[in-house]
Amino acid sequence: MTRPKNDTFLRALLREPVDYTPTWLMRQAGRYLPEYCETRKRAGSFLNLCKNPRLACEVTLQPLARYPLDAAILFSDILTVPDAMGLGLYFADGEGPKFERPLREEWAIRDLTAPDPNVHLRYVMDAVAEIRRALDNSVPLIGFSGSPFTLACYMVEGGGSEDFRTVKTMLYDRPDLLHHILEVTSQAVADYLNAQIQSGAQAVMIFDTWGGALPGWAYQEFSLAYMQRIVADLKKVHDGERIPSIVFTKGGGQWLESIAAIGVDAVGLDWTTDLGSARRRVGDQVALQGNLDPIALFASPEGVAREARRVLDSFGAHSGQSGHVFNLGHGISQFAPPDNVAVLVETVRQYSRGFHGGQPG
Ligand code: CP3
Repeated sequence: MTRPKNDTFLRALLREPVDYTPTWLMRQAGRYLPEYCETRKRAGSFLNLCKNPRLACEVTLQPLARYPLDAAILFSDILTVPDAMGLGLYFADGEGPKFERPLREEWAIRDLTAPDPNVHLRYVMDAVAEIRRALDNSVPLIGFSGSPFTLACYMVEGGGSEDFRTVKTMLYDRPDLLHHILEVTSQAVADYLNAQIQSGAQAVMIFDTWGGALPGWAYQEFSLAYMQRIVADLKKVHDGERIPSIVFTKGGGQWLESIAAIGVDAVGLDWTTDLGSARRRVGDQVALQGNLDPIALFASPEGVAREARRVLDSFGAHSGQSGHVFNLGHGISQFAPPDNVAVLVETVRQYSRGFHGGQPG
């Protein structure tokens, strides 16, 4: 049994009592931190950084050295899985991720196989183990993956897209092909997350960044159904400890009840859904994670503190209820001022201590 000394994050996910509302931030290790940019320069590129366990560990710890965060998140990317499937991931400067071999032809789709994470994604497992050693049980480590649908968007489009024309055309004209991609990718994601758990990840999160681009019926059939299968396949206990899972569909607030019903421990919400009404809709079926607008970090320090309190108040944390993990509603901007992040994290800690009966400060 290796519960971290600070297990507030795990307790909130499992809706156990906490002394304050735990916080971590999506993309907490990233370009808004000068020390991240320095390590990335040394690595030569973002992908080299991901593929070097020592450097991945270094950047994972950077935000924790600056701020009193309650969880670390593995430094990696969701697109390492399709890369391991042979699609050839690269980052063109200023253009975001791209694939050398997008998945378009029926023969290539039929040839797709799930990689063995302990072989083809060995560098991720090594990073997880190295980060766990470096954390020395101070805070828990979150492992993660993209959702099958979100990965399929990048795999079929060959990179980012404004309207997802290629993948959605496949959905409408050749649903059998898209389902095949999603089947294989779901197996890959389940294997990948279980390997991360085996290597030391203490909670896992599925990022469904693009599920919200679908009509409701298609979200259920092409995104949620596959995440449900993955959650069912996840190892629930490792080393004597529960491994909680979080699902985040950006733009998925309208489907909250169905997401909460797939067997996850927590649902991530973007800033467009009110946390209080979300909590009333799902009761204590799941914990909720979120959901400050990432752009609120550009306000004055007083504004940042006010908006942090607004999120805590909207959850109704003053009732002393557990089951809230404070986070942004999406990834932090590369232009976010690091000093405002300090104000945010301190405000959540201090203000929420008052609700949960912990000592202020
Ligand atoms: O949260 C963390 O700190 C962990 C690290 C993490 C990264 N990407 C690092 C990263 C995580 C959890 C991700 C997930 C990810 N990657 C998602 C899902 C979450 C989301 O943001 O919706 C998606 C869609 C991707 C794909 C991806 N990777 C894109 C679209 C980009 C370019 C975006 C940009 O800001 O330029 C990346 C690159 C990326 N992934 C960076 C980081 C820190 C910036 C790369 C750099 O240093 O140049």
